[in-house]
Amino acid sequence: MARAKQAKSSGSGTDAIALLKADHRQVEEWFEQFEKARDGERKQELATQICNALKVHATIEEEIFYPAFLAATGETDIHHEAEVEHNGAKKLIAEIEESSPDDEYFDAKVSVLSEMIKHHVKEEEKSDGMFGEARDSDMDLDALGEQLAARKAELEGDLDDGDEPPTPRGQKEGTQPDRMARGSR
Ligand SMILES: [Fe+2]
Ligand SMILES: [Fe+2]
Repeated sequence: MARAKQAKSSGSGTDAIALLKADHRQVEEWFEQFEKARDGERKQELATQICNALKVHATIEEEIFYPAFLAATGETDIHHEAEVEHNGAKKLIAEIEESSPDDEYFDAKVSVLSEMIKHHVKEEEKSDGMFGEARDSDMDLDALGEQLAARKAELEGDLDDGDEPPTPRGQKEGTQPDRMARGSR
């Protein structure tokens, strides 16, 4: 039964589990790069990428995949543990976002986050974990994959808007601060 579903889901779109696994692989790669990084600028860049990606990933799981999983399987233990792990990770993500590579504890925070995520991903991906159980259920993984992809794109768009890097110095367009210019003379 599960086998038939697997065959079906290799159709046009990316199914929910393939999409979520691809996210996991991406973040793992960035964590590896972080470990090798030496300069602060690169570390900051990678930490930002990791935190943003994890926030989007956790949100689409919590909004779409986890509730569908719980409804289809009734596996409350698996579901609740995953949610609790997300909450733990989110607290550390917030700390990392408040921090910077100048902080003595920055590397330790990213390293512990990496371990937390490694554990969480293992739980999700193991054969009797959430994804395995989802495959064996009657969840419509293709439809969920589409929903996840759409929400992910939306959240990534929000990040782009809200996270606009400060305009490089002296290049602020349209806002000529007359008063400030006068004052600085
Ligand atoms: Fe995940
Ligand atoms: Fe998760």
